[in-house]
Amino acid sequence: MQFSKNFIRQVADATDIVDLISDHGVTLKRAGSSYKGLCPFHSEKTPSFNVNPERGFFHCFGCSVSGDGIKFLMQYDRLSFSEAVEELAKRAGIPLEIQSGGPRSSNPEEDRGLHCLKEAAAFYSEKLSVPEGENAVKYLQQRGVPESMWKQFQIGISPDEWQGTLNYLQKKNISLSEMSKTGLIKVSEKSARHYDTFRGRLMFPVKDVRGRCIGFGARAMKPEDKPKYLNSPETSYYRKSQVLYGLHEGLTSIRKKRRLIFVEGYLDVIRLHENGFTEAVAPCGTALTQEHLKIALRYADTVILLFDGDSAGNNAALRHAHLLLPVALESYILTLPEGEDPDTFLFYKDKRKF
Ligand code: UTP
Ligand code: MN
Repeated sequence: MQFSKNFIRQVADATDIVDLISDHGVTLKRAGSSYKGLCPFHSEKTPSFNVNPERGFFHCFGCSVSGDGIKFLMQYDRLSFSEAVEELAKRAGIPLEIQSGGPRSSNPEEDRGLHCLKEAAAFYSEKLSVPEGENAVKYLQQRGVPESMWKQFQIGISPDEWQGTLNYLQKKNISLSEMSKTGLIKVSEKSARHYDTFRGRLMFPVKDVRGRCIGFGARAMKPEDKPKYLNSPETSYYRKSQVLYGLHEGLTSIRKKRRLIFVEGYLDVIRLHENGFTEAVAPCGTALTQEHLKIALRYADTVILLFDGDSAGNNAALRHAHLLLPVALESYILTLPEGEDPDTFLFYKDKRKF
């Protein structure tokens, strides 16, 4: 993402650097016209970290790190330049622009796909609050997923019909061709008619790091429905080797803890978040890749592999250990008792005698 110089200046000017740095957990005390605190970039006992609100600048006399708000986010949160500008624009409530000054739209086709998925996610989640969604709500209750968690992860239910999603999206002026590209509908080879890909399934919207829905994981609710999970296809914006479920929801705490817990499934992520492990993430229907670890390196210093307590989980953990060894991350493998996954382990923790 390219921003114009003007835009960057506007964002920098609108940033209160004292607020920004304080919000990142640094206690700043006024000292004349500037502020002082303990430097977050090196370990010290007496404050040598100075923040000048007028100049919008920080400087540490101890370790010489210095810069503006953008630089602070790049260093502290390990954001790229553009991500830092975007983050500050968001804080200041300034809409994003491209070089020409027009509205941001780098790829209109992508934007249409994302719009379609956003509408679908809203449709599915609203279905949980109408009579049609009763079964899904019961299912979630049985599995002990509290309402706060299904709201946070925007879980929903797809109608158990051939053209429920299709009809709804059509009413929203979304074309069949756009729906097809997102993988939400398919064409029957026999009748050449379009039909919903996900029918009567619990829908887990997969979000990118900025919170945009880029696809779905869809779980069957009846044991006879196969496969257990159906997943959205890859698109230009949904590259499975680069997406971690739960990263968006956990981002603030991940940045603070600088730790990630890798689990296997959607419900494992949700159960961990529910129990305060908001740094839990999972790949979506794929194995962990080098690219997932690159993401991990941006946000974390420590990773924990917490896979299912079965032979597949144990084997996967060992395979991934090889992937992790050359990477500069402190890594741990945590094993669970046979037959447990992180979801069941935490769900039954109070109900079971060890
Ligand atoms: P699991 O079979 O362990 O399911 O698959 P789960 O996440 O524990 O779900 P519950 O608790 O049985 O409901 C782990 C992950 O593997 C992918 C999904 O991403 C799932 O969350 N998967 C599994 C598929 O993509 N397709 C499948 O048919 C099964
Ligand atoms: Mn599992």
